[in-house]
Amino acid sequence: MHVTSLDDWISRAKDTPRSLRGRRVFLRADLNVPLDGNRVRDDTRIRASLGTLTRLLNEGASVILASHLGRPKGQVNPSLSLAPVAVRLSELIPNPVHFIADCIGKEAQTAAAALSPGEVLVLENLRFHPGETENDPKFAEELAQLAEAYVNDAFGTAHRAHASTVGIVHHLPDAVAGDLLRAELSHLGVVLEPQRPLLCLLGGAKVSDKMGVLRALSERADVLAIGGAMAYTFLAAKGHSVGQSLVETDRIDDSLSIMEAAKTNQCKLLLPTDHVIARGLEEDSETRIESEIPEGWMGVDIGPMTATAYAHEAKLAQTIMWNGPMGVFEIVSFASGTREVAQAVAGASATSVVGGGDSLAAINQLELGDQINHLSTGGGASLEFIQGLTLPGVAALEK
Ligand code: 3PG
Repeated sequence: MHVTSLDDWISRAKDTPRSLRGRRVFLRADLNVPLDGNRVRDDTRIRASLGTLTRLLNEGASVILASHLGRPKGQVNPSLSLAPVAVRLSELIPNPVHFIADCIGKEAQTAAAALSPGEVLVLENLRFHPGETENDPKFAEELAQLAEAYVNDAFGTAHRAHASTVGIVHHLPDAVAGDLLRAELSHLGVVLEPQRPLLCLLGGAKVSDKMGVLRALSERADVLAIGGAMAYTFLAAKGHSVGQSLVETDRIDDSLSIMEAAKTNQCKLLLPTDHVIARGLEEDSETRIESEIPEGWMGVDIGPMTATAYAHEAKLAQTIMWNGPMGVFEIVSFASGTREVAQAVAGASATSVVGGGDSLAAINQLELGDQINHLSTGGGASLEFIQGLTLPGVAALEK
């Protein structure tokens, strides 16, 4: 990766008469956090962005901090405002934090120009303008007009070719990779060049969301253990009874071809051999443990035998990548498979990398975070990266 790091940039700037003091820096972060009304429910991504932000502020830069939140589809949507993020940020750092209710235009320009060294201006949700996701050059130019340099620390959005991750780079002389972005790339890199055996644990609801990564990992992993609802599409493809479980019938052929690819590449592809099954998705729904799922029942979690088998693979692995829950983790009585996998990954001696909101939530709930080598802030971005795909947000910095 040939990108300018913060270290290089800051030390180069120190050799110039101006250094970074008073320089207006546009910092693109991924502050796409879950909200509860107008409160931030989980501030992990905000805290993960503090390293780069505080380094810039300590150098005396004035930081224009930009992000998207949710998918407002180019419309102003007050329930997806970044105002609560600005409030939470102001609780986390001692520096003055301002907020402006747009991300381009006269007022944003005036507010950016009025910043003193060490102050932050949080812009309103970039995706309130359609130009952001369309990577509209005019919109990118308007964002660039707010600042004199660009730092991208938004690893979670690096797989999107948007105005604030790609287009803006053409309008500012300095384009620099933030510390979080670089740390993510280097930690996730262990999955691309792993110590073997490499165990990949993939869960989540839909095969269709993870098609690319399933295919890539069936070629690269030594063991690919599948859980979550997507396992039922694979089981249905193999002719098992899956009752009312979530099955994507239009992905049956894909599942068969992934199993075939795994066989060709000597990747051991594991599917659940027992399941927690339930009559419904309520906390008090009747449940049983079964190896086949009868009509009228649905699979809601991997069963205890499967959890033990996956935990055993974790013990044997040298590198582990885990993304996606093993069951309907939000419901306590369907969460044990995900919990056991979380404990196994944390307890393993392998280098471990965990990504995806639910897997991280499981790790955090069990307070196992410090036993994992890397907790990725990227969902889709980390999956694309470990497939070996080019991330447009990173490629743009390599110009
Ligand atoms: C994420 O949460 O994965 C990132 O913020 C990207 O969001 P997006 O999938 O809406 O582009």
